Amino acid sequence: MILPSTTITNPDPYRAPLYEFCLTPHFGRGNGSEKRGNSPGTNHHSPAGIGEVMYSNVLLASGRSTPASANPCGPGGGISERGLSRSPQLISRLPLHHYLSGNRNGGFLSNIPPQQFQEMNMKKKGDKSREETLDPEDWEAMRALGHRIVDDTMDYIRTIRDRPVWQHAPPEVKARFEGPPPAGPERPDEVYREYIQSILPYQVGNSHPRFWGWVAGCGTVMGTYAEMLAASTDAVSGSFAYMSNNYVEMQVVDWCRTLLGFPHGTSGLITSGCSSSTLIGLAVARNTMAGYDVRAEGMHVSGKQMTLYCSDEAHSSVQKAVELLGFGNDALRRVPVNDSLQIDIPALREMIAADRSRGYHPVCIIGAAGTTNTGAIDDLNALADICAEERCWFHVDGAFGAWTAIAPKYRHLVSGMERADSLAFDLHKWMYLAYPIACILVRNAAHHRNAFSLTPTYLAHGEGDRGLTGVDVPWLSDYGFELSRGFLALKAWMTIKEQGTEKYGRLIQQNIDQAHYLENLVQEAPQLELALPVSLNIVNFRYMQPGLTEARLGDLNKLIETELQEQGIAVPSTVSIRGRKYLHVAVTNHRSRREDFELLVREVIRIGNGLA
Ligand SMILES: Cc1ncc(COP(=O)(O)O)c(C=O)c1O
Repeated sequence: MILPSTTITNPDPYRAPLYEFCLTPHFGRGNGSEKRGNSPGTNHHSPAGIGEVMYSNVLLASGRSTPASANPCGPGGGISERGLSRSPQLISRLPLHHYLSGNRNGGFLSNIPPQQFQEMNMKKKGDKSREETLDPEDWEAMRALGHRIVDDTMDYIRTIRDRPVWQHAPPEVKARFEGPPPAGPERPDEVYREYIQSILPYQVGNSHPRFWGWVAGCGTVMGTYAEMLAASTDAVSGSFAYMSNNYVEMQVVDWCRTLLGFPHGTSGLITSGCSSSTLIGLAVARNTMAGYDVRAEGMHVSGKQMTLYCSDEAHSSVQKAVELLGFGNDALRRVPVNDSLQIDIPALREMIAADRSRGYHPVCIIGAAGTTNTGAIDDLNALADICAEERCWFHVDGAFGAWTAIAPKYRHLVSGMERADSLAFDLHKWMYLAYPIACILVRNAAHHRNAFSLTPTYLAHGEGDRGLTGVDVPWLSDYGFELSRGFLALKAWMTIKEQGTEKYGRLIQQNIDQAHYLENLVQEAPQLELALPVSLNIVNFRYMQPGLTEARLGDLNKLIETELQEQGIAVPSTVSIRGRKYLHVAVTNHRSRREDFELLVREVIRIGNGLA
């Protein structure tokens, strides 16, 4: 008999006990003896305040909640010892503070036979023959360290504006990372001290409000917690049934689908970066368009060489994917760009026609929704039309620019993107989430699945509606090349819920507005020269002095970049556009303010004047 799932009513979810830590509502399904629902005393709310409870949840999930002996899921508290019929209610009744306080009297432990309890205690008290674990020897000290880490982390993020954006790691810091692995243990607080001294200060600096050198994300506080939570349960996502992580990932993919304008039925996967997403998208394109079974027969049987098309300005990850997929770099046709650095549509048409006439097989056009150097967005509607006419797959690299679609004032810029067969994009750039997280969407879910689905016998699934291998949601490992995957979706899910998509839309709009603000500042400064009008969130400009050669100007601007970085003022990079070197500012930072761009302009002029 299948029982209905337990319904637990929590008037205030923040104050509710952490019921689901050990138990899903379907736990024990199939056993007719459970009595579901709450009984007197089962709905204790934690006495702690909201912050305390949320924080406690972090710690609880990190495994410091109870001694192993008191853990209802662990030894002595396990189902096998106490019988299936008792455990679900018992666990689900325990309020959060039970786990946190280590309550041994009158709580769960009172149910463990005295002899067994004694044995467990003996093991805890330094019996030399006991088996080892990586869990802390001293849970309380580890808890204190955890509190400190969270406190330090919050202080660091809150005061980040007051720090240098970046500082050069000195040789002695580099030297600290040489040497053999430690054979014996080190104190956890010592390990943390080393992190604070030698690692934290010398990172790239992308969470700083004046980091704009490369298109990068800057992280969120909620995302930081989410990473900790995901790590604390060693959470995986992708395979298995009736488990929440998959539901979360599928919901995040579905949110992306909706926000970016793709239809129901589109499939998708969370990945570690747009490079992975592009590899997956182009693998689906190849297998779908080849006209034969590439998975079975490989690339060498292809009668006609397949060709792909992207602009001269396309990201290097496109070439890497093309090479990895066996097309060969020669098959990737670089189409020249127009004055706005968008793919030249007539040139593209000509190249496809020429290839056809020479017996090649054009299979895919790759459009850019925001190129790395300038933020140029190809004419995506025109590309979609050509794909339809030429029976080509339409892939869009929207690494950061895809998110323009949620900025009310600017979404028209990526019109046509929603017509793509596959769209690769990051959430660790313009959704501001901590590295790594990206996504691939594929319009035709069957094509997507056909490219990757493979089930060895040990992973057989899909029989019945019970257990970790029962029929539930599709196994996401059938939609990409990785089997074991982390729970990357959690930071997206938690942060998007915390902030709401409207705020995200406003922030992306704010960044584009800031780029235009910087563009104006540059235009107003006689010492500065803009490379080209700003089309999205990227500003390229240079310091100028009349009479200097191009080579000298290139060197000078490179030096300005380095000085800005080494003085900790700001991090721009430099790029070459039409053979000239420019300072490059990519605004994908929710912490940047207009005053930061004013400071940048002042400092570029100050340093430039000093060097010229
Ligand atoms: C346009 C574009 N596509 C692809 C990528 C690669 O993305 P990832 O670094 O997430 O793999 C980038 C990275 O900057 C990019 O700017």
